[in-house]
Amino acid sequence: MPESVLLNAGFFAKSCAVLVCLCGVHLIVALVFYLTESTSTKFYYRQMPSDSSETHRRAALVIFDNRTVETELNKLIYNASVIKDDVEEPAVLESCPETSPLLVGPLRVEFSEPVNLDMLHKENQQLMMGGRYKPSDCVALQKVALIIPFRNRDEHLKYWLHYLHPILQRQQLDYGIYVIEQDGVDTFNRAKLLNVGYVEALKEYDYDCFIFSDVDIIPMDDRNTYKCSSQPRHLSVSMDKFGFRLPYKQYFGGVSAMSKEQFQKINGFPNNYWGWGGEDDDIFNRLSFRGMKISRPNGDIGNCRMIRHSRDKKNEPNPQRFNRITHTRQTMNTDGINSLEYKVINIEKNKLYTKITVDIGKP
Ligand code: BGC
Repeated sequence: MPESVLLNAGFFAKSCAVLVCLCGVHLIVALVFYLTESTSTKFYYRQMPSDSSETHRRAALVIFDNRTVETELNKLIYNASVIKDDVEEPAVLESCPETSPLLVGPLRVEFSEPVNLDMLHKENQQLMMGGRYKPSDCVALQKVALIIPFRNRDEHLKYWLHYLHPILQRQQLDYGIYVIEQDGVDTFNRAKLLNVGYVEALKEYDYDCFIFSDVDIIPMDDRNTYKCSSQPRHLSVSMDKFGFRLPYKQYFGGVSAMSKEQFQKINGFPNNYWGWGGEDDDIFNRLSFRGMKISRPNGDIGNCRMIRHSRDKKNEPNPQRFNRITHTRQTMNTDGINSLEYKVINIEKNKLYTKITVDIGKP
């Protein structure tokens, strides 16, 4: 074989050997790189707090994808741990006790000094918009909507808010205040406004208890809890106006409490009692026709005060009330929450309450 051919063959063999070496080195480098990356990722995930958000994980991956240097990774890990330290672990709250330890018992209630609205706002900074509150250190036993039928009683409303907000908070309730204002000047209809309050409050929150309260009645003892019981509850049992006793056994006016189930069972309240009187007697009839009994607080706990006032215009005693209450059994299935019609005119929310102005029609 000529010498030049042998020389070429030798050169070719050497070149091949170098190429094989280069491939080997490349393979080793790739392998080392791959192994380093996967261990770091695992390490990073081990370091991430277990509750780290998806955002943090994604941020970590972006950094890896961009091959950002390890210090970036360390910074991220550090930040994640700082975030974890800053965010308070949400405490698991226990249920509030059956009887609140914050209650003080008998209260002094008087209406000689007018209530200043600015003061009222200042006193109630802890409220959420719309007159909503819930205890911060325990889970309230009931979610309570307080419904107040209303027209032209701003002074009374201020007293009511002044006294009731602190009481309801001491009672450790998760509550909201709904003032349901009748629009226009036609005859007042308390029970229909209460029906509206029930429907509107439920649109906002999953309330399980409803307190129906006149705007001018203030409890004189915070042990008279504004809560629902296994039976409908009458709360304004001994009013100063009636010499601190029940005017009659079936009396269910002033302030009462009903669970959602109890209210549904009686098809809510009648819509056709226009003017003063009778609607509370109709409600009493509905409850007894559905086999329920009224529960009431004992003794002095049920004392309450009514703000004296002259009779409202367009709320004269309803002459039809005596006749109507004799027909509750026939009317209650078709007149109530299932036949309620109204139009919302305005919803105003401030710190102290939610006011819903409604057109409920006329007699
Ligand atoms: C009326 C009720 C009222 C009660 C007490 C009754 O004659 O029908 O509506 O609450 O008197 O004033």
